[in-house]
Amino acid sequence: MTDTPARGLFITLEGTDGSGKTTQLSRLIARLREAGHTVTETAEPGGTAIGKKIRAILLDPAHQELHRTTELLLYFAARAQNVHELILPALARGEIVVCDRFTDSTLVYQGAGRKFGADLVLALHEIACGTLFPDLTVYLDVDLEAGLERVRTSRGHIDRMDGQSIEFHHRVRAAYLDLAAAHPQRFRVIDASPAADDVEQAVWMAVKAELEQRHVR
Ligand code: TMP
Repeated sequence: MTDTPARGLFITLEGTDGSGKTTQLSRLIARLREAGHTVTETAEPGGTAIGKKIRAILLDPAHQELHRTTELLLYFAARAQNVHELILPALARGEIVVCDRFTDSTLVYQGAGRKFGADLVLALHEIACGTLFPDLTVYLDVDLEAGLERVRTSRGHIDRMDGQSIEFHHRVRAAYLDLAAAHPQRFRVIDASPAADDVEQAVWMAVKAELEQRHVR
């Protein structure tokens, strides 16, 4: 548990595999920096050196025997390290933190996809992250088949999570949409099917509006 008060702004990007999230993340960070903000960039799993090692275990397609409980705990192990090593100190310095995925990913991939349920995921969240939740979550929504095709062609390989069944990925997308509907004050759903430049503009408009509303300069 951690009670450090957060003073900066915590923004997360979420999306199913192949939603173009990585491209949009770097474009958003570039725009924030151009606008004069100090930004800490991080990712889950993998934003810290320890997180990168955990990521390698999680995504190795050779690890077919990885139990779903091990998977769940490893995502939170990487997150606890990220929160304590990077996110909370940056927020305490008053910075904007932009994180590629956070607990919403665990809610949809493990809570819904692996059927652990939201209550268990949120209980682990409290252990790993205390009361820390994002101030703003941008969810990039894309048709599943188109997204997985994008993964195959752009990345050239399928990791252990991309390789799950199409039913699994459908549960994940439906859970994202439910989560966004349940938390409209925090979530912004952006259609990620248009060209990257158009999606970038839509993401920037959503983030800019939030910064203005919160008087973050
Ligand atoms: P990435 O490709 O966006 O970096 O994400 C890695 C994979 O890990 C992706 O398939 C989503 C999955 N994932 C989970 O299943 N649970 C989690 O908590 C997180 C952060 C990611």
